[in-house]
Amino acid sequence: MTEPENTQTEWRNFYGRRHGKTLRPSQKTYLSEDLETLRPAGVTREENPERLTLDPSAIFGDERPVWLEVGFGGGEHLVHMAARYPEVGIIGCEPFINGVAMLLGKIRAAGATNLAVHPGDARDLMEVLPENSVARAFLNYPDPWPKRRHHRRRFVTAEHLAPLARVMAKGAEFRVATDIPDYVRQTLKEVPKAGFRLVGQGDKPWDDWISTRYEQKALREGRAPHYLTFVRD
Ligand SMILES: C[S@@+](CC[C@H](N)C(=O)[O-])C[C@H]1O[C@@H](n2cnc3c(N)ncnc32)[C@H](O)[C@@H]1O
Repeated sequence: MTEPENTQTEWRNFYGRRHGKTLRPSQKTYLSEDLETLRPAGVTREENPERLTLDPSAIFGDERPVWLEVGFGGGEHLVHMAARYPEVGIIGCEPFINGVAMLLGKIRAAGATNLAVHPGDARDLMEVLPENSVARAFLNYPDPWPKRRHHRRRFVTAEHLAPLARVMAKGAEFRVATDIPDYVRQTLKEVPKAGFRLVGQGDKPWDDWISTRYEQKALREGRAPHYLTFVRD
């Protein structure tokens, strides 16, 4: 992970990166041509200052189950899941615009039609989703924030988990993958406190898993993946 930027929006801090290397011309084209139609309307404070609740069926045009991926990075898992489960709609959230551009390229190549993209903080999306509206959520290789004083920035804190628990349906699955033992520790402590039950963990991925860029980096650098599955109580 590179040095964080602390982007102070009007409402909350985001400590990750929003921009990386200069985008390729093709990526700029994807962002200008595709993002507007893939982006759920009414998520940003500019568009929805009153924070009115969205209607998820308006996002995909029908009553299909809605899944959520937080921090999709380059989007490989998101596009893989969309192809594997054409009957669901998956919303991916990612504030890092270079990752969003990579995803849009992959969506074009795959011809996926069951994805939506929120190019920002997952908290902004969760805030406007109805209660019990998400049938599955993925958190793959969340930012590790290794320094102890930064642990409170991790996704597995009440600030993120309480809104996630609110939007997830009872019995819905929440999957976490990480290569950081101390992240496993914090996940096992905090996620149950937020209203989830641990139903599985270990070094074997889910049957439908596809390895992500960060997992590949972790494996190259000798770190072991750990997979945790929770269910919303
Ligand atoms: C270590 S990367 C992992 C990316 C990808 N999931 C993978 O496995 O390759 C973590 C990602 O989470 C994103 N992220 C961090 N906080 C987030 C938040 N509050 N909402 C959505 N995405 C977030 C970061 O921008 C970053 O791209």
